[in-house]
Amino acid sequence: MPTPPDTVYARIARHAVERPGAHALESPGKPPLTFGKLVEIIDATIGALSAAGIGRGDVVAVVLPHASELATACLAVSACAQAAPLNPEYRRAELEFHFASLKPRLVILPAGRAPAARDVARATGVAVADLHADAASTGAFRLSFPTTGGSATGRGRVHADDVALWLHTSGTTARPKKVPLTQSNLVASAEAMIASVALTSSDRCLHVLPMFHIGGIVDVLMAPLMAGGTVVCTSGFSVPEFFLGLEVARPTWTQAVPTMLRELVDAAPEHRDAIARRPLRFIRSVSAALPVDLLKEVQGAFGAPVVEIYGMTETAGVIASNPFPSGMRKPGSVGVAAGPEVAVVDERGVPVPTGQRGEVVVRGRSVMRGYADDEATNAASWFGDWFRTGDEGTLDADGFLYLTGRIKEIINRGGEKISPREVDEVLLSHPAVAEAATFAIPHPSLGEEVATVVVLKPGSNVSKTALTEHVGSRLAYFKVPRVVHFLQAIPKTAGGKLQRNRLAETLGLRDATAEAPRAAYVAPRTPFAAELARLWEATLGVERVGLDDDFFALGGDSLKAASFVNQIQHQWHETVYVTAVFDAPTLARLESYLSAHHPELVAKMTGAAVPSSGPARRAVDPDALRRFRRAIAKTLGEAPLPPKRNPQAVFVLSSPRSGSTLMRAMLGGNRALFAPPELYLLPFDTLADRKAWFSGSQRFQLEGNTRALMQMRGIPPEEAEAAMARLEAARTPVHEYYGTIQRELGGRLLVDKTPYYAHRLDTLERAEALFEDALYIHLVRHPYGVIRSFEEAKLATLWYPRLVGTAEAERTPNPWPGHLFPEMLWTVLNQNIAAFLAGVPSGRQLRLRFEDLVADPGRASRALCEFVGVPFDPAMLEPHADRRARMTDGVRPESRMIGDMKFHEHRTIDASVADLWKREYHDDFLSGAAWDVAASLGYEETASRDGRIGFEL
Ligand code: A3P
Repeated sequence: MPTPPDTVYARIARHAVERPGAHALESPGKPPLTFGKLVEIIDATIGALSAAGIGRGDVVAVVLPHASELATACLAVSACAQAAPLNPEYRRAELEFHFASLKPRLVILPAGRAPAARDVARATGVAVADLHADAASTGAFRLSFPTTGGSATGRGRVHADDVALWLHTSGTTARPKKVPLTQSNLVASAEAMIASVALTSSDRCLHVLPMFHIGGIVDVLMAPLMAGGTVVCTSGFSVPEFFLGLEVARPTWTQAVPTMLRELVDAAPEHRDAIARRPLRFIRSVSAALPVDLLKEVQGAFGAPVVEIYGMTETAGVIASNPFPSGMRKPGSVGVAAGPEVAVVDERGVPVPTGQRGEVVVRGRSVMRGYADDEATNAASWFGDWFRTGDEGTLDADGFLYLTGRIKEIINRGGEKISPREVDEVLLSHPAVAEAATFAIPHPSLGEEVATVVVLKPGSNVSKTALTEHVGSRLAYFKVPRVVHFLQAIPKTAGGKLQRNRLAETLGLRDATAEAPRAAYVAPRTPFAAELARLWEATLGVERVGLDDDFFALGGDSLKAASFVNQIQHQWHETVYVTAVFDAPTLARLESYLSAHHPELVAKMTGAAVPSSGPARRAVDPDALRRFRRAIAKTLGEAPLPPKRNPQAVFVLSSPRSGSTLMRAMLGGNRALFAPPELYLLPFDTLADRKAWFSGSQRFQLEGNTRALMQMRGIPPEEAEAAMARLEAARTPVHEYYGTIQRELGGRLLVDKTPYYAHRLDTLERAEALFEDALYIHLVRHPYGVIRSFEEAKLATLWYPRLVGTAEAERTPNPWPGHLFPEMLWTVLNQNIAAFLAGVPSGRQLRLRFEDLVADPGRASRALCEFVGVPFDPAMLEPHADRRARMTDGVRPESRMIGDMKFHEHRTIDASVADLWKREYHDDFLSGAAWDVAASLGYEETASRDGRIGFEL
């Protein structure tokens, strides 16, 4: 089938036929990618995606760092499906929001990285494709992915009116709005862009903008490629990389936001030779108003015209642009209509006379058809077929548009648009906050900065730092208020209306940088801190940075933070996320953060030897174990015990990664038993408490119980969820709910396997209080087996919040990296189980080792049957058969079973799994406390000998 000409792919592919050897993408230091090769990469990716069941109707989220592979991945995905590039700096809650809103079939992540996105994908049942970049070439990559299950939503070539790209814009509501852009929207916008600056195949664009924004993907990627020109990829914006790119790659133009232009102008005197040797044809300024003075400074420094434009996500980019190369340009104006038609109207949508103020409206091929899933906003966003931009402006007699103000309250921080209500909501979720109003405050380089006024609840006390940390743990760094004021009341109009756009003025706040005083000087104490201080001094243009100085108080902003981490990347080849600067904004905190997470960087920066392998394993000391125990939150309240105990049930008690899912699936094969996935019931008084505990990404854990209800009652997931919602709303006591399950099971015996139960002794003791003669299977596994498995599965991200509570986990990140967390978890859980079982009659407990279970499953199954008093069922030896009956499938076709994520990698019971750890661990790092527990569970044969682990392979 011939490709329709009005898709982005078709426009780019034309050049692969006409000039296959021409350079499409370059990245300094690597061989270029020709148009011929670019189309080969896109075609191969289309093939791989469609083989995995991804088609035209499917959304594919792309969460990758800024690099040439991100460019090729976005081009390939949007050529056969719907690409949703997301900011790799997003926090968990933001990723959860975007995944829930976009419902992607697949997410593309950098192989071995992006743990938060991986967790969210796992928890939301989104398949992950790993992108393996080819380090030696520009833009080349390989995808490895599981099959996504199900069939593609719409196959074949994409059509002009298919959605190609999903982006989000900040709205007046708290949540970002979803903007679907079709192939023809993108082509129309790129064509307008090409025409407005007369792009040709000899143009070379230096690409420094994020690709999850419209400008970064259409203006500086799709448009130049459609024109047959070259795009020079970087790892994002930083001053040194910009000038290096200018020198090495000889670009003819670039596009930046005013904040970046400010930095470039400031640094320009040091790069005068490079600028003279490599003249630019033009510089395009986007995303925020460009002050006239800055425009003149940029033109002076670079000797090149600056083209200021006005564009929006909803219009796939350019709306108005200053005429170029020739023709009249008017500084202060965003230019003339350059794509869609532009008009200025009154509040009824009627055009106002020339020179009068009104709302800017647009219509044309590049304008989106409407926000997705948001009829209320759509209803307010259109005057007929004219889209309301929410910006206020005037048109002069020559058709030049001047933007005069904003009808919306969006904060524009260096081009990043922020909805103040989103920030308010997060502030209001803090227990001490009664009222909050977030607004823009002028900032010398960013244009605007996020400020907030907060009214505390009577009797409450909270520091500014605690509040900004609260926001920082929930929202991307650029949304965190840098200026916080506590007030008794928030100023409102006489009519009680909040006027955010006037708050800064009302409160007399004129400059964001003047609001944060500088800390007293404390000299750096280590060579590493001194080196970091020097880097900050260079990045921020300040003198004598001390340990207590705060990056943002010194005038830093998100771009400067990015510039700082990019410099680290550039000079020392170490990837540090920009969030590090926001999580650890003082020099002292950054030093300890980087020392803990990037030991190689410390070595490289201070000239010490680079550690050859991963960080050395520290031993768990008794103090750490005590702190770990203390951190485990109490989940039970003071509810009185029920008058009557429930009938007998079986509990499988173990640490995670002990083969408990395997054992459950085996028990589930026995018709006399009902063994659902993790129920998570015992540690709570009521179902409402249980629901509250599993908030955020933890809530997916509750699906084990949903699956159980579906099975018991033969109902679909929606019905099971609705039934649970009713019981939760009624604050049903947990023992009553257990009773309901047991009644509905008829004669079958309930097996509750939930490793979390061993978190506390009081939870375990509840089993004795709630059930008549409960039976306990203590499943144990060698600590090294558990630790290796746990580390491989990166389970601390799920287990830490579960143990300490999601709110606490957001306040204090897991302080136990690597093996420390699983080792202590294994030790504490098994200690709790042993202490609990010491008080239970021996006839009601059975200890089984995972190693014995997999070595001789027949014998183990018979022993289990004898213990629980049911006949042996041969189906127990085929735990991987019949997923539905055993509840080893997910709640929905696209979701996963709760429990062992590796379970379905096995086909049979595999004895070799027990010894996997012996290939990896040779030095004995286990603490004395853990060895004591191990020995008491029968693992003394591998105990340490001279620091080496004693075993025969
Ligand atoms: P590894 O990660 O060491 O491979 P749990 O369900 O308690 O979290 O335990 C998970 C462990 O059980 C994983 O260990 C997993 O591979 C192992 N397992 C699951 N099914 C298995 C099978 N059929 N044979 C052997 N081991 C199995």
